[in-house]
Amino acid sequence: MSTSSFSRLPGFRDFPPDAMARRTHIFESWRRVSRRYGFQEYDGPPLEPLELYVEKSGEEIVQQLYAFTDKGGREVALRPEMTPSLARILGDRSRSMHKPIRWFSIPQLFRYERQQRGRLREHFQWNVDIVGEAGVAADAEVLAVALDGLRDLGLTAEDVRARVSDRRLLTRILEALGVDESRRSAAYAVIDKFEREPRARSLERLEREAGMGPEARDTLVEVLEAGGLDVVRDRFGGRDDVGEALEPLEAYLATLEAVGLGAFVDVDLRIVRGLAYYTGIVFEIFDRQGELRAVCGGGRYDRLLELVGGESLPAVGFGMGDVVLGELLEEKGLWPDLTPRLDYYLVVVTEEERETALALARRLRDRGKSVTYSLRPQNVGKQMKAAAREGAQAVLILGPDELAQGKVRLRDMESGEERDVELGAL
Ligand code: HAM
Repeated sequence: MSTSSFSRLPGFRDFPPDAMARRTHIFESWRRVSRRYGFQEYDGPPLEPLELYVEKSGEEIVQQLYAFTDKGGREVALRPEMTPSLARILGDRSRSMHKPIRWFSIPQLFRYERQQRGRLREHFQWNVDIVGEAGVAADAEVLAVALDGLRDLGLTAEDVRARVSDRRLLTRILEALGVDESRRSAAYAVIDKFEREPRARSLERLEREAGMGPEARDTLVEVLEAGGLDVVRDRFGGRDDVGEALEPLEAYLATLEAVGLGAFVDVDLRIVRGLAYYTGIVFEIFDRQGELRAVCGGGRYDRLLELVGGESLPAVGFGMGDVVLGELLEEKGLWPDLTPRLDYYLVVVTEEERETALALARRLRDRGKSVTYSLRPQNVGKQMKAAAREGAQAVLILGPDELAQGKVRLRDMESGEERDVELGAL
């Protein structure tokens, strides 16, 4: 059997060193920015009880689960998202913890999705969550973390924007338009797909599935398409319930303005988010051109912890995926030079010098330097080529004449300059 008969599963990735270097570049940025905001890293198991996702995450994600019965007869699933695990992990611990809890994680997640641009069957997702703070300052803080994560990688307000909404506000608007609680999730589902489905189909579904009359439907569509809050104030200004629901979103926007991130943020009530557990402000971050899928999504979910059996705590957070982010960095030419670097490559002129080279390598490595050398006899030319290929900053040439004087020849690979240095000085 040829090895090529073992191909990679569709939707999964290999990470040879160049791809791994890009992944590490992203992860390092995520960790750096998380710490800048005082978040602590956590993780959990990749396999969880199936029950954790059923009903809590919502239908769409449940249909995409990698789920099976394990040998002990347990119904289990590979984690498709981190938020239910976070709720479960905090369930046993949060009572004894100081609030707010600021935690982040970079799990690998698995969803059996139809493969398309930006969507794979596994991805890594930066999760940042604040638990135990109900005020909008926490909502603004997590969006600031997400945006700073993107800024840290070189993206600007010209490249990306956050589209924000508030489920409470949308609910009040739907109520004002005569959509009662029993039809709310049907209306959410249509709004969630509004941009991806033909307009006529959305209109028809709003009528049939959400029970909206033509006038109410047209007002809703006007509000959705206008963006911003002016149309909302204009159409529903007389209603206290809508006015009240506007306040948190207005305070949120003011906070983001105050931290200098206002240019990234647009109000857009078409953002409802596919996941079932969100209860308040929600957001998604997209490339400005609108060519790619969302790079990040999140929001407030004040019921989930209780639902999973833990302490009843308000929570807000986001997930940012590495796949769309990688595409965005590629498109904007924002990958830095990630070629591997080596401090020293040791070249031996004859095999007589190998023992000295090994001792020298030991001393340099003990001082934290990266060092390599040919593992078998090779002529000097080949060793020099290998040094260049491996990204050596400097080559140390060990020859019999120099060693006799207690010296080695150091070649600076960038400038090409060579000089003798005392072996003891290295
Ligand atoms: P989500 O919107 O399902 O949210 O995923 C967040 C991000 O992960 C997406 O915007 C996308 O960039 C990336 N992503 C999701 N699925 C895939 C996929 N199949 N392939 C590649 N990338 C993908 C959540 O998962 C929430 N649990 C986030 C959250 C945390 N909310 C509160 N805290």
